[in-house]
Amino acid sequence: MSWSPLSVVAVTSDLVITSLFPLALGQAHLSIDPLDTAVLMQAILGLRDQARSNPDPDCAWTGDLQGIWQFHRHPDARGLVSLVVAQAWAYLSGLGFSTSAVALHLQRCWPVVSEPGQLVGRHHHPNAHLSAVLYLNGDGSGRSGCLRLFPHQFCNELVPGLAVGHDGPIDPLHSLNRAWVDLAPVAGLLVLFPASTDHAVLVNDSDDLRFSISFDFVLTAPAGVGDQGAPPEYLAPHPSRWQALDPPAAGAEA
Ligand SMILES: [Fe+2]
Repeated sequence: MSWSPLSVVAVTSDLVITSLFPLALGQAHLSIDPLDTAVLMQAILGLRDQARSNPDPDCAWTGDLQGIWQFHRHPDARGLVSLVVAQAWAYLSGLGFSTSAVALHLQRCWPVVSEPGQLVGRHHHPNAHLSAVLYLNGDGSGRSGCLRLFPHQFCNELVPGLAVGHDGPIDPLHSLNRAWVDLAPVAGLLVLFPASTDHAVLVNDSDDLRFSISFDFVLTAPAGVGDQGAPPEYLAPHPSRWQALDPPAAGAEA
């Protein structure tokens, strides 16, 4: 099988360094009518109601922790969700998935509102396989709070901890030992990345509210797989094949 390296750096006339295992970040700029965006923002503010944080005042309001985790079913969001789902399929195709051999499920969808001074701490989404974020506003400057993505592993730091420890000696901006990558929100920008990727939202240093919508997707085998043959070993069968089990009767716990 042939392969193409992500990048090749010639260090000397004799030595070449090749980057082997890239993290796949998807980016797409969606065409969303500014009027629709304004309607969505108003809907989100209505859902946020009196709440302003999670609940630490420094932490942005995230709908998933406030009961707003099925925003994809909101009438004002459906058109936008279909655009996002199309890009999720394109992302899978771009990763080499056979899109006819997997089923894609939208598991959760929630708005996030970050007020000036607020942030979202480092975390990942262990409940999902693929995550996406759509920005409803942002001017590309990053002032409203960049999305910070962290590598799964610092495989090139050689000595554990050197890539993030104080006083180097590794160049913190070197592409083969980068501790994180920051992405500035832009209105209409959709980003997609593996749900296992640690990420955070930096502090909102602007004077405006920062609006985004998060999506969590899960992959399973398609519904028809299992009629003949079996799903791939590590891909869960379609949920229609799952059997929900009754909890033990009261007092019968082991
Ligand atoms: Fe997140």
